[in-house]
Amino acid sequence: MADGTSIESSLNETRVFQPSRDFAGRARVGSLEAYEALYARSMDDPDGFWTEVASELEWFEPWSRVMEGDAPWVKWFVGAKTNLSYNCLDRHLTTWRKNRAALIWEGEPGDVRVFTYQMLHREVCRFANVLTTLGLEAGDRATIYLGMIPELPIAMLACARIGVTHNVVFGGFSADALRDRINDSRSRVVITADGGRRRGAVVPLKKNADEAMTDTPSVEHVIVVRRTGEDVSMRSGRDLWLHELYRDASDRCEAAALDAEHPSFMLYTSGTTGKPKGVVHSTGGYMVGAYATARWVFDLQDEDTYWCAADCGWVTGHTYIVYGPLLNGTTCMMYEGAPNHPGPDRLWSIIEKYRVTILYTAPTAIRSFIKWGDQWPEKHDLSSLRLLGTVGEPINPEAWMWYHTRIGGGRCPIVDTWWQTETGSIMISPLPGATPTKPGSGTRPLPGIVPDIVDKDGRSLPDNQGGFLVVRRPWPSMMRTIYGDPERYERQYWNEIPGVYFTGDGARRDEDGYYWIMGRIDDVINVSGHRIGTMEVESALVSHANVAEAAAVGVEHDVKGQAVVAFVTPKGASAPGPELTDALRDHVAKMIGAFAKPEQIRFTDALPKTRSGKIMRRLLRDLASGRETVGDTTTLEDYSVLAALRESEEG
Ligand code: WT7
Repeated sequence: MADGTSIESSLNETRVFQPSRDFAGRARVGSLEAYEALYARSMDDPDGFWTEVASELEWFEPWSRVMEGDAPWVKWFVGAKTNLSYNCLDRHLTTWRKNRAALIWEGEPGDVRVFTYQMLHREVCRFANVLTTLGLEAGDRATIYLGMIPELPIAMLACARIGVTHNVVFGGFSADALRDRINDSRSRVVITADGGRRRGAVVPLKKNADEAMTDTPSVEHVIVVRRTGEDVSMRSGRDLWLHELYRDASDRCEAAALDAEHPSFMLYTSGTTGKPKGVVHSTGGYMVGAYATARWVFDLQDEDTYWCAADCGWVTGHTYIVYGPLLNGTTCMMYEGAPNHPGPDRLWSIIEKYRVTILYTAPTAIRSFIKWGDQWPEKHDLSSLRLLGTVGEPINPEAWMWYHTRIGGGRCPIVDTWWQTETGSIMISPLPGATPTKPGSGTRPLPGIVPDIVDKDGRSLPDNQGGFLVVRRPWPSMMRTIYGDPERYERQYWNEIPGVYFTGDGARRDEDGYYWIMGRIDDVINVSGHRIGTMEVESALVSHANVAEAAAVGVEHDVKGQAVVAFVTPKGASAPGPELTDALRDHVAKMIGAFAKPEQIRFTDALPKTRSGKIMRRLLRDLASGRETVGDTTTLEDYSVLAALRESEEG
């Protein structure tokens, strides 16, 4: 692989679960043959296939060609004009869905707000008018830094309505991380709240934003939502309360006719080297991908109450809390707070209370539920559930089985969905009424998607051999570029193996054509289903006054999937010890966010390096995981470093 070793897949899972006759009988895609026919059509006649799918949505002007150009510089629905917000909202207002609940929101303290499609439309129009009044126009960027309150999807849809490219920053990010993202995106407006509610406490969003905005020259205005009633400082001329801006805002706002390739949003994600990159998504192609995949994978029906228990700060929240479900006219559940507040059964009580039918969450959350104990789901009636989903990292078969029996009552299919921030929508997943599932496998590609497993020269590998997961053909919702760095986009995703999209994941395909994802092959740690670059953690550590050098690696973790372990060489006079450990963990939380805190910090006088000076993270990974023998060390410059590290581990 990247460091010269091969990928070995040791998982040998043989259980197979067929979709029940009952589920299949009512499903949109109800048999393996139906899935295979759909897939075959998407391969034989891609233009006809995507034309059919896209025609279920509304376009202000038609496209002249479905796809044009050579990867990576492709355009989808060339020349067409449309609007995401219009398709999520207005499209439903002339149907019975006008008065269907679009959003059922529950705050952490238990307050509830419900928006029908018509009500949500009105709110979005008002918000869009506020943005226009502040001078925002199509092509501008707005950074959104909010907790999980209705104003978050409302702000996203308002931006989409007038063509402002939104840049949502997860509310758990620190001021420093927020500052980088505001500056890199050159946002004219920041949308935040006084505070957010999390585990009974208040997250000081406005205070963090103020700290971030000590040095953000592009920001002209800050729109502040009142959520917690905190005292916050409002800089006159710059900071404005949303409820005051709303007073003069009309609730009518025509949706802009945007080019299909107009950048609808950008979202920062971690990569191999350097700073996080702003992944840019389109309007038309993204819309078609979000719409179709949500429909196929979640089998959305008129009676469903669908809940993606993610945060809008990640791509999962963009595509499967907001755009995908609303494009389908679905009723979406949204919850503000922590899953264990006030008790470890909060999710189950919400499912019981609103009779939720579809739950989509992450393996890391499932492992927490397992740890908290079966008594919590057992206290609640979960019989409304009919379908379960997972995303973010490979799910271990034990967690899959627990989800299946304890939450799904043995009757709900599980869709294990593989995709990335960059892919925009789900790429590999079972269709719940069609695909037999094997615990731990994302199964087969969705229509239009051509994955493959290849070696480093791009040659396809035979079944059951581990290699790089790539995608051979462009697809509508693929990212269009890295904001401000098209060259990096081309290099990192399309030139690694010429002509194909490089995912950065290792995987194998079995004899049934099922994909088994083995995880990242680059220097990226997947903590609780979210990517953190080893580089980012290292930069944060070395920015501390007492650190000379640092290396971060990922190790297996029961709940988080992977956890960060950092090896740190302190500066001359500073004493290693628990005090410095605490200070460094807090420092990383301050620089990136609490979720990136190293689980463990190990102090060392020197780091193992190659003769060319590269830190040998592989050795550190082995050490941190407590593996007896470390792999090939022939390129190591100084063997005594390794011996010293081993000793420090024993001591
Ligand atoms: C990386 C993408 C897509 C939304 C959440 C994360 C890993 C994602 C699965 C899955 C195995 C998965 C991959 C991927 N991943 N889903 N079902 N099985 N691994 O988005 O932060 O862009 O991370 O998450 O390693 O490359 P992201």
